[in-house]
Amino acid sequence: MKLYVFGAGGHAKVVVSTLLAAGLSIDGLFDDDPQKQGFCVLGAKVIGTIEDAKKRGPAQGVLAIGNNQARRLLAQEFPEWEWLSVVHPKAYVHPSVALGPGTVVFAGTVVQPDTHIGAHVIINTGATVDHDCQIGDFVHLAPGVHLAGQVMIEEGAFIGIGSAVIPKVKVGAWTIVGAGAAVVENLPPYVTAVGVPAKPKKVISEER
Ligand SMILES: CC(C)(COP(=O)(O)OP(=O)(O)OC[C@H]1O[C@@H](n2cnc3c(N)ncnc32)[C@H](O)[C@@H]1OP(=O)(O)O)[C@@H](O)C(=O)NCCC(=O)NCCS
Repeated sequence: MKLYVFGAGGHAKVVVSTLLAAGLSIDGLFDDDPQKQGFCVLGAKVIGTIEDAKKRGPAQGVLAIGNNQARRLLAQEFPEWEWLSVVHPKAYVHPSVALGPGTVVFAGTVVQPDTHIGAHVIINTGATVDHDCQIGDFVHLAPGVHLAGQVMIEEGAFIGIGSAVIPKVKVGAWTIVGAGAAVVENLPPYVTAVGVPAKPKKVISEER
């Protein structure tokens, strides 16, 4: 089956490098930016728009778009595709860890025993996820995030670069945690929280 990547931006570059490092070959990229048509990302060519993908599939794919809502909408739009989960060979993922379809685990990450990771999750460069965590679908853990044991990150939440979450804390669905935050108590869904300790600063519309 052919393997395609959705997206051709900076995040897609790291997804492509991860797929190549894992020994996979890529049959093309899709991106709606007219400027990117025909261009190559690490040797993989942009062969059309997202609409064009409908003519090529169903096939295997990876949604290489950092925005969590955008990945959710695309996964809904392409229900018959087989979403590949990929782990960089220089990541450590304990064999007991369950990874959902479409999830990408980048170089330098560590995922410890009995953690469950949902679908279309991004475990970005150098992030660590300790034992018994629950990571919902469409979550993005940015580079250098550290989750202690038994943390729960609900669907669609984004944890900003360099943030830390202490044991047993829960981050609510679609919440955004700002760069460098220390999450020391539960955060509700649909807020932007920043700081040390992290406190909700804004409410996010559920209709994003
Ligand atoms: C929190 C964040 C998402 C911005 O959210 P926003 O809703 O657009 O917020 P704004 O930029 O309007 O800032 C709102 C306030 O929060 C403050 N703020 C923003 N980010 C902050 C952070 N990480 N830590 C502490 N305060 C922060 C701003 O200074 C501003 O303060 P003020 O109201 O006193 O002026 C963003 O700053 C951030 O941290 N993003 C992380 C990006 C990242 O990790 N990318 C990795 C990609 S792989």
